[in-house]
Amino acid sequence: MTSVVGTNGSDSKPNMVYVTLVSLIAALGGLLFGFDTAVVSGALGFLTERFTLTGFQQGWAVSSFIIGCIGGASVSGMLGDRFGRKKTLIVAAFIFMIGTVGTALAGNFDIYIVSRIIGGIAIGITSALAPLYNAEIAPAKYRGRLVALYQLAIVTGIFLTYFVNLWIIGFGNDAWDVSDSWRWMFGAGAVPGIVFLVLLFFVPESPRWLAKRDRAAEALPILVKVHGEEAARQEVLDMKESFKNEGTGSYKMLFKPGLRMALLVGVGLSALQQLSGINAVMYYAPEIFKQTGLGADASLVQTILVGAVNFAFTILALWLIDKVGRKILLLVGTSVMTVALGIIAYAFQTDMTSGPIILIAILVYVAAFAVSLGAVLWVVLSEIFPSEIRGKAVAIGTMIHWMFDYAVSQSFPPLLQTTGPAFVFGMFGVMTAVAFLFTLRLLPETKGLSLEQIDTMWTAKPSGKA
Ligand code: BGC
Repeated sequence: MTSVVGTNGSDSKPNMVYVTLVSLIAALGGLLFGFDTAVVSGALGFLTERFTLTGFQQGWAVSSFIIGCIGGASVSGMLGDRFGRKKTLIVAAFIFMIGTVGTALAGNFDIYIVSRIIGGIAIGITSALAPLYNAEIAPAKYRGRLVALYQLAIVTGIFLTYFVNLWIIGFGNDAWDVSDSWRWMFGAGAVPGIVFLVLLFFVPESPRWLAKRDRAAEALPILVKVHGEEAARQEVLDMKESFKNEGTGSYKMLFKPGLRMALLVGVGLSALQQLSGINAVMYYAPEIFKQTGLGADASLVQTILVGAVNFAFTILALWLIDKVGRKILLLVGTSVMTVALGIIAYAFQTDMTSGPIILIAILVYVAAFAVSLGAVLWVVLSEIFPSEIRGKAVAIGTMIHWMFDYAVSQSFPPLLQTTGPAFVFGMFGVMTAVAFLFTLRLLPETKGLSLEQIDTMWTAKPSGKA
């Protein structure tokens, strides 16, 4: 058993200003994620006219970026382990800039698609490495909050982008909208992209990555800055101790008895976060609201309401995650989501679509997602694996997240047409109920534990059960 003195943050005062600033910079990667998720919703109509897109091409215009994300996530672990978290994030920010400029200047649809995929690769890499970086630098006591900053940045990016899109549309007439507005919409990503790229040069490398590479001497001053002298020295000892018990860092390690369970938890939660249907709402909210008989303008206002609720409840998640823990948030959130989805399905089934019931249920669903599967996924994913395999395992979980994102967002419109909204939302409800049971049975509580303590938890209790 590794020593725990100094690692749970209870006996020393961490430098919260410093570590929060550093975590905020890494979390900016989430802003790019949110931007890329939302930007296309405002641009799609104009792109369709500009390049006379078919229905299939429209789908491709939206989802090509997710293909890039799958690719980016799949190589993130290998790159992050080899070159370090910081350098790989810098390269990702640079790749994002190439994608952004390429999309904004695209002279034809092919260039647009290639540029979106390039941007997606960057988002895929950052979605694995930014939360992981925050987890590796955070004092245990505040790790949940500091990693969840990433989710806060995602929802901020989604929310801001709706407004930026609306603002840009106001610049010119209809012809300008078709020829150029979408270029500015995509180009706007360059602003957070440059800020992210430049600020990353000022953050330190992950101390845990350094220690793992036998560079504890470089890790120590960073840990001293975060935790204070005494706790930092203890932390280095804890890391060395825990590295002794770890294996080779090959993918095979993940299939050993204890870690197999960690892998199942990571992969399962990643898939279930997407199977809960969140992106059906995020990407298609105006369409869903139109099905309830609202006009286009009212739909847009309600879409903005969804963004505001998502933002407000993510703040609540940040506040709660290190107090009540990851498990309680997930259990409460997924139960509320299940009920809300049941109500939505029932309302569509019985044609109760004219009153506010669907809007209210969707807002409750989004709020419950924000405090549970939204914020908690990134926290759990970045903390449950041992150092030796963390990069690769997080990459697998993140890749699964993007694959299911792709599958759900691609199948949602045709399913809506063939089976109807009652069935689709009912299915999402079944999935959130599965997420509840999954959490109840398999997720161990990791609140307040150091990453080294979490490592030993899996090996000490091979079943890994909660
Ligand atoms: C998910 C995204 C989703 C967003 C909505 C994130 O945690 O990974 O797919 O669009 O939350 O807030």
